[in-house]
Amino acid sequence: MCSDPAAEKQPPPATRARRMDSIRPFYVMEVLERAFALERAGHPVIHLEVGEPDFPTPAPVVEAGMRALAEGRTRYVQALGLPELRAAIADHYPQTCRPHTDRVVVTPGSSGALQLVFGVLIDPGDEVLLADPGYPCNANFVRLYGGEPVLIPVGPDTDYQLTADLIAQHWSERTKAVLVGTPSNPTGTLIDPIEMAHVTARVAELRGQLVVDEIYHGLAYGDPARSALHDSDEVFVVNSFSKYYGMTGWRIGWMVAPEAFMPDVAKLSQNLFISTSTPAQCAALHAFDTEVIDELERRRQLLQRRRDFLVPALRDLGFKIPVMPQGAFYVYADCSNFSDDSDRFALELLEHTRVGITPGRDFGTYRHHEHVRFSYANTLENLEQAVERLRAFLAS
Ligand SMILES: Cc1ncc(COP(=O)(O)O)c(C=O)c1O
Repeated sequence: MCSDPAAEKQPPPATRARRMDSIRPFYVMEVLERAFALERAGHPVIHLEVGEPDFPTPAPVVEAGMRALAEGRTRYVQALGLPELRAAIADHYPQTCRPHTDRVVVTPGSSGALQLVFGVLIDPGDEVLLADPGYPCNANFVRLYGGEPVLIPVGPDTDYQLTADLIAQHWSERTKAVLVGTPSNPTGTLIDPIEMAHVTARVAELRGQLVVDEIYHGLAYGDPARSALHDSDEVFVVNSFSKYYGMTGWRIGWMVAPEAFMPDVAKLSQNLFISTSTPAQCAALHAFDTEVIDELERRRQLLQRRRDFLVPALRDLGFKIPVMPQGAFYVYADCSNFSDDSDRFALELLEHTRVGITPGRDFGTYRHHEHVRFSYANTLENLEQAVERLRAFLAS
């Protein structure tokens, strides 16, 4: 995360890249900084603004990482990843969509994968279609390469997801690619599998490139999320050990790339990263162990219980949540019953209730003033307490 550049001393205009004007900071930092100040002053805050699981990395994964360090596995490895990890990632996909190991690339988080994807796709001036609201870094990665993110407003009518029709409506001569995030950050909604097949077909017809961010895939509470690899081998699929596997700080993720792009992906990953952290790769090799998956499944069920508590409780308070989120650990709530300025609302809630939430502005421009994101990566007890504090404040 970065701090607000406007608040910092800036380098001389002659040396500063103009693109930096278009790269946006995380506005939740304002909430976080105030939260930390409150905590320093002795007022504990319930953090529902967080974007990472509250569970530790599973023990067998940590132990494998420590073994790797003790054995001196601290040097560079292959740019595309340890062969045995690439094979394990390929094998974790169901037989019906399993990619060839040669198309799997290990990356420093899915953030690394997204930088590779847009690096091999985007020329200056190219447009990329993205859902608004959506994960803000994707638009910034596009801008980094001189591309133009085109934010398409989405709402409850499409489960906050792009559709084949929306994509066709916003397609221009300059459109190069489309990014779909499912389950979505911030809405927790999944794209319907039939719509996903339509999207895949439509983007191919339009001769564009589809990129699918599946980073929250293990975290679905209805039917398991279905990988876009089921529909095509020509899509880029991005994923990560961060969320479901509880490894955010290890910085390790992956992507599956269409075969024809692999030489470019290899060149760029050598140059950008040399290789992904070796101890993190050795640790991640154990993320698919049966005992680890059993533990992760228990955690997923716990998250589902938290969602099942939080969504009705927030609705009862007067937040509008028209679509039940089916994945990730986020609730994107319409707060227009209380405020039409979600930035101020988030800061007010923090001040009066000591509950931290993320204002909608971090996720796009469409009706962002009327939305906030709650994360339920926190204990059920804390969620219950947060709801009680909100109830008291909103009734006052
Ligand atoms: C939708 C989405 N994509 C990608 C990322 C990047 O995650 P990482 O680089 O840790 O894999 C995040 C992190 O919050 C996210 O929410």
